[in-house]
Amino acid sequence: MNRKKFYITTPIYYPSDKLHIGHAYCTVAADAVARYKRLQGYDVMFLTGTDEHGQKIEQKAKAAGVTPQQFVDNIVSGKDGILDLWKLMNISNDRFVRTTDDYHMESVQKIFRRLYEQGDIYKGKYVGKYCTDCEAFWTETQLVDGKCPDCGREVKDAEEEAYFFRLSKYAGRVRDLLVNTDFLEPRSRVNEMVNNFLDAGLEDLCVSRTSFSWGIMVDFDPKHVVYVWVDALSNYINALGYENSKYDDYDDYWPADLHLVGKEIVRFHAIIWPALLMALDLPLPKKVFGHGWLLLDGGKMSKSRGNVVDPYVLAGRYGVDALRFFLMRTFPFGTDGNFSNELLIQTINTDLANDLGNLVSRTTAMAGKYFDGVLPADQRADGNLDSDLLALASGLRGRYEEAMEHFAPHKAMDEVFKVIQRANKYIDENKPWVLAKSPEELPRLAHVLYNLLETTRICGILLTPFMPESMEKLFAQIGAAAEQQTWESAARWGELPRTVSVRKGENLFPRIDLEKELKELEAAAAPAAAEAKPAEQAEAPAFITIDDFDKVKFVTAKVLACEAVPKSKKLLKFTLDCGESEPRQILSGIHEYYEPEELVGKTVVACTNLAPRKMMGQMSNGMLISAVKEEPDGSEKLHLLMLDGKVPAGYGLC
Ligand code: MSP
Repeated sequence: MNRKKFYITTPIYYPSDKLHIGHAYCTVAADAVARYKRLQGYDVMFLTGTDEHGQKIEQKAKAAGVTPQQFVDNIVSGKDGILDLWKLMNISNDRFVRTTDDYHMESVQKIFRRLYEQGDIYKGKYVGKYCTDCEAFWTETQLVDGKCPDCGREVKDAEEEAYFFRLSKYAGRVRDLLVNTDFLEPRSRVNEMVNNFLDAGLEDLCVSRTSFSWGIMVDFDPKHVVYVWVDALSNYINALGYENSKYDDYDDYWPADLHLVGKEIVRFHAIIWPALLMALDLPLPKKVFGHGWLLLDGGKMSKSRGNVVDPYVLAGRYGVDALRFFLMRTFPFGTDGNFSNELLIQTINTDLANDLGNLVSRTTAMAGKYFDGVLPADQRADGNLDSDLLALASGLRGRYEEAMEHFAPHKAMDEVFKVIQRANKYIDENKPWVLAKSPEELPRLAHVLYNLLETTRICGILLTPFMPESMEKLFAQIGAAAEQQTWESAARWGELPRTVSVRKGENLFPRIDLEKELKELEAAAAPAAAEAKPAEQAEAPAFITIDDFDKVKFVTAKVLACEAVPKSKKLLKFTLDCGESEPRQILSGIHEYYEPEELVGKTVVACTNLAPRKMMGQMSNGMLISAVKEEPDGSEKLHLLMLDGKVPAGYGLC
């Protein structure tokens, strides 16, 4: 029998910088939904990828002195790149599309040509404002205080010959789709679209550019490249083989069941994308869901604000599953949520270490202690004491499904944790340690433990989409064969054999010392923030004047002393002779590359008129200069600039 299909996508990511926890939020959510649907028995196609064209990438590549292709290759598949991150986060995507893939580019060209030939795209002239960061053209009326309405940055005048898509022609149908169907959720996003865009009237959309070249060429007019959003949005069909021969499952999976996207790109998915599909006469996706942002200190995370949270650091410290769990458990999916390290640790401690971890470790420990790990067949139920837990656990799947189908994973997990908490209470009510003292109560004790294991099993199945690896370990500990833990069995009480044998194993979710951890995280963040500086300087303008150069004071400096900064993995503290009356203290994040002892006595180069700043509670009065070298494995290594000793300390460089 043909299984029912489910096609789910994430947005495709801009490889302009390393991704942060906000990006991981959307992909983890999509992964959890994909795993949930697979658990339900669907044949799932889960697509993610990267959106690699546009002026921003072209500019960044130029600043970095590499080709745009080299630039994106490094961020997508280099060390700690996007592919590495998704592997680390255990993302189970079935396909990964890159908009620089040949087959995708071929499809985009064919789509553009077809729309042109049928008159939905025409040639005109664009006069307006352009925001380089958002790659978006705006009309004067769309600007907010003269700035880009999306990011608030400056816009510039732009005029160019361009192709236009007849978006206005589809305005009525798009409005109908948004207002009269459940195409876009949550409903609040429909109001945003209507008030901010549809009511203002949809103008035709400029869909080609001539001012830069890093894009997909319009094949019948090669000085134009296709607008990045037309390029990017069409990935959802191209990656199934639409207008290319790389894949051939378009008929199997299109229309998509769910496009999950962040709120700021709902406009593209709920207005432009359906209009393009209408023009192509293709079925529309069944659902676009616009989730909220993960905020930090009430604002959006972004590299330029210098407030990004690194998923590698968090996954490394607390485990991938705990991080995945936190993201989905804590924040209602449709609205913004405020990230904090404290909230992360508290959630792990309360839900995973206390509630779930305790249930598993207490139950398996008692089964080990009282029955050598194998429950006896002779068991005695007690309707009065058992019925509440059994009813709650048996009905759990239905309540969980209801929440998951309404894009409320946090509510689904709420239901699971209510059952886990009830099970912990059941232990206290039944007092197994008292039962264990009377031989005639052993059948009752065995049944109490059985009920606890069975409850844990059901909860384990339903938590699998969020914490796949940990739940496998949990099944092994409670003696449940992993392959039998199906969606069906989550609704059937009594699936574990009566004489189940358990194996107490490692503590699945150790408790975290909140105070200690917060201090360490803060300490880890300080040098990271310090190191963010050089990367941002790499984006300097192409030329500076000699006057600009003269403003920077470089001198030769002799290392008098050097030691590691306590609690920092990266910072070294230098005491330097810079030819001044007093030695100078400078901190440098190079401990990964040098041991302090080997640097004493060396002559290095220091910038001495950089504004002093505090790192890890210590002052740094300047900066040591290093060369950044890319290693064959894609990582970067810093080499401190050293002189051969013929030049004494305190000489200026020119
Ligand atoms: N390239 C476009 C998407 C094209 S889809 C055809 C893009 N890329 S992005 O890398 O900037 O963002 C990808 C996704 O990450 C977006 O859905 C965005 O909302 C999400 N997030 C980026 N920062 C985020 C948070 N701080 N919180 C939650 N999601 C956020 O847009």
